[in-house]
Amino acid sequence: MTPVPRTIRVDAASRTYDVVVGSDILDGLGTRLPSACEADAAFVVTDSNVSPLYLRRTIDALEAGGLRTSSLTIPAGESHKRLDTFGSILEAMAEASLTRDSVVVALGGGVVGDMAGFAAATYMRGIKVVQVPTTLLAMVDSSVGGKTAIDLDAGKNLVGAFLQPSLVIADVETLRSLDPTVFADGLGEVIKHAVLADRDLFDSLSRTPLTKDTDAKTLIDVVARNVAIKRDVVNADEREQGIRQTLNLGHTIGHAIEAAAGFELGHGHCVAAGLCCVTRATEALGWTTKGTAKAVERLVAQQGLPTDSNIPHDQLVSFATHDKKRHGDSVNLVVVHDIGRCDVRRVTLSDFARIVELGCGVNA
Ligand SMILES: NC(=O)c1ccc[n+]([C@@H]2O[C@H](COP(=O)([O-])OP(=O)(O)OC[C@H]3O[C@@H](n4cnc5c(N)ncnc54)[C@H](O)[C@@H]3O)[C@@H](O)[C@H]2O)c1
Ligand SMILES: [Zn+2]
Repeated sequence: MTPVPRTIRVDAASRTYDVVVGSDILDGLGTRLPSACEADAAFVVTDSNVSPLYLRRTIDALEAGGLRTSSLTIPAGESHKRLDTFGSILEAMAEASLTRDSVVVALGGGVVGDMAGFAAATYMRGIKVVQVPTTLLAMVDSSVGGKTAIDLDAGKNLVGAFLQPSLVIADVETLRSLDPTVFADGLGEVIKHAVLADRDLFDSLSRTPLTKDTDAKTLIDVVARNVAIKRDVVNADEREQGIRQTLNLGHTIGHAIEAAAGFELGHGHCVAAGLCCVTRATEALGWTTKGTAKAVERLVAQQGLPTDSNIPHDQLVSFATHDKKRHGDSVNLVVVHDIGRCDVRRVTLSDFARIVELGCGVNA
């Protein structure tokens, strides 16, 4: 029996919208989209891996809903999240005669979501976007919250805009075709959310690891809980002035590992390692309940993710302190007090260096 879809309503300052999480709900897109946003035409952006798998079904669903539909397939991968691809999306949108009454449908992982979202945010000074995430990372993180971006030579996500989607449709059946390493990458963010705000989820993942072949009901439940956690934070702080920063848990060190490793290791893998490093250090400093670091490490390892990196401390500190989120001579660090309870602490650069020394390279 197909499990019932779950709907999470996001009430951001700039827009209210639904995130629908279900099994085999892609074919219902043409029914759900018109009731979420008025549009006469839809423009689907997808990538070269997702296109052969899900584009035909998506177009059929949209046309069945009465929308004039066109599409563009961009080359897959982060290396294409760049100005030239962004330009080609805008040109194709104009070519397809999109107007302010059209909607962009982002069908794919976070790369497609970020670029199609940014194109929607800028075309004719902004049209609507519907996100149809097809990776675990995109379902639990990038499709919700309205951040869109592209990369520059100088760094990742340096140009972008805030544009909340009008609707998010997460069909967990699309996860079945993922490469297991890409699926695991999303688990890095899932574990981060659980540590941040959901001890029940942490405990249930610790008992039964999640894989792309997990039953649909469980996948829906896990994705929906993650969306709810991100929703609660985004509702309170759409533009990352305060509490939204807690979503950066594991990211200060994680981003440094990612950059130092030359972006060879997936983002979620680096976040998982960053989360373990920071928690080991804050536990040693007495800021975190004893035993927390071991519990986090156990879950991270069980899900096939790294618990550490062997990158030298000075390199990590240097990459982390060149991060765009640095504030003068201090960094905002998300600290775990206990599973499900975290807050943001401003630490000086020298304290941060000590944290890296205490927590990183211990198990590498
Ligand atoms: N906007 C935000 O708030 C936010 C948050 C986190 C991450 N991001 C961004 O998200 C991006 C990473 O997203 P990602 O991990 O989804 O990467 P991705 O979009 O590159 O997808 C990973 C790989 O999986 C393939 N793929 C996607 N769906 C598939 C499916 N169902 N079956 C088979 N293959 C499939 C893709 O073609 C790609 O090769 C980064 O650019 C990151 O900056 C944005
Ligand atoms: Zn992340």
